[in-house]
Amino acid sequence: MYTEDKMSKGIKNICCIGAGYVGGPTMAVIAKKCPNIIVTVVDINEKKIDDWNNSDLTKLPIFEPGLDLIIKKCRNKNLFFTSDIKESIAKADMVFISVNTPTKTSGVGAGRASDLKWVEESARTVVKFAKGKTIVVEKSTIPVRTAEVIKCILDTSSDKRGEKKEFSILSNPEFLSEGNAIRDLENPDRVLIGGDDEKSIESLFNIYKEWVIPEKILCTNIWSSELSKLAANAFLAQKISSINTISGLCEKSGAEINEVAKAIGMDSRIGSQFLNAGPGFGGSCFKKDILNLIYLSDFYKLPEVAEYWEKVLEINHWQQNRIVEKIVSTLFGTLNRKKIAILGFSFKANTNDTRNSPAIKICKDLLGEGANLKIFDPKVDSKQIEKELNSKELDFISDENKGSWEYAESIYDAVQDSLGIVVLTEWEEFKSINWEKVSLLTRDPIWLFDTRNICNINEARTNNILVWNVGL
Ligand code: UDX
Ligand code: UDX
Repeated sequence: MYTEDKMSKGIKNICCIGAGYVGGPTMAVIAKKCPNIIVTVVDINEKKIDDWNNSDLTKLPIFEPGLDLIIKKCRNKNLFFTSDIKESIAKADMVFISVNTPTKTSGVGAGRASDLKWVEESARTVVKFAKGKTIVVEKSTIPVRTAEVIKCILDTSSDKRGEKKEFSILSNPEFLSEGNAIRDLENPDRVLIGGDDEKSIESLFNIYKEWVIPEKILCTNIWSSELSKLAANAFLAQKISSINTISGLCEKSGAEINEVAKAIGMDSRIGSQFLNAGPGFGGSCFKKDILNLIYLSDFYKLPEVAEYWEKVLEINHWQQNRIVEKIVSTLFGTLNRKKIAILGFSFKANTNDTRNSPAIKICKDLLGEGANLKIFDPKVDSKQIEKELNSKELDFISDENKGSWEYAESIYDAVQDSLGIVVLTEWEEFKSINWEKVSLLTRDPIWLFDTRNICNINEARTNNILVWNVGL
């Protein structure tokens, strides 16, 4: 039964802190599905907020298929992007925390534990500006037991101020995958709500119920919810590392990875998804979440568990190393001053996100070998590539041995005069490259290294292009 307080009655105002890859699309879909709720997205980055408000929908800060249409439909009707954090939190019944939680780079747990400073900061901001009763929802992927940290900040700070503020905390991890965010949000396999306050759970449940069948909305205790998110990502990453180990075996044994993946994937217990061998997994979550699991396992004195998950990361690294070694050995043991085209820089297709993209490590290694790279990606601009590659890691190499890179405007611009073409992201347009045109633009012998197995290799071979595929 609903009572009149806002923890249990229908939510009217939502505020989301963090207008990034998770917060932006998630709030857009809630606004679309719940036209009676006012959804306000805030961010400390004012430029990002301006970009979300840009009337030119091609200039939104993130690219996701279908997102622009929702923004067009809902923006400034029941979906708002603003830097007015104070006012937005004050009027919210429910605040989502959707800020980044990168791996710590220094101090205790460096390289493994998540840095929760932004989550903490968000909790303090909520305490400061919230009025009355507010439901706080953890949306960021966080280490298990983070809710305790948030609860401690919310409870003690509001007590100290002597103001009548009341908070309830829920965990509601996001399972969207980039490039498919809108589809995943509109048709989720499941929605997970963790918490112990039934009224708050019901409020969030009722929001999702607007478009998700109740059987798919799971309610658990808060710790199960937090751990499920880490475990889900770790299992997915483990599946990729598993198939990548098999790709190495295929190359040695004469088996073909596509055939093996199909044969094992038809076993419904294994499932056919996430069996594409490639240059290893990237993205903001898999590595970070596995590092988190490792940290947690060590913390709870479970070294065998930690070692098990460490292996998944090691294999990812191994796959990238062996791709680089293959390129170097195929191109006669040296890349010095050789032109190599890189096709794809984002960590997967249909996103402009480059966080932990396999392309970063592979390109840096090729630069360290002295290659001159020409990089093309349909959605990643040159500034972003510069940010990722402008690393001190190459400083130990003398200038004469260090490679260089430049940005290419198209596939055909990238391949001009090259001796090698490396496909790193599975963009749709790479499936229909005109190999006849490529062979006229490149030098001989020209090699294609297709790390995603998506190119029309028969056509490439017909045009005298030598081909290496992962797992074949
Ligand atoms: C997701 C997950 O939620 C997160 O746990 C994981 O670490 C990375 O992936 P995502 O939306 O992809 O987060 O991150 P990002 O695109 O970086 O967006 C986070 C936003 O939060 C940024 O725009 C940042 O400016 C904003 N932010 C950060 C705040 O508004 N306030 C802060 O205090 C900190
Ligand atoms: C992932 C999870 O899928 C999602 O549920 C969670 O909320 C966030 O982390 P995301 O990182 O956006 O989503 O992309 P995903 O599709 O999972 O791909 C991750 C990486 O694995 C990419 O680099 C991708 O290219 C790679 N991958 C994926 C493979 O190499 N092979 C596959 O078969 C699938």
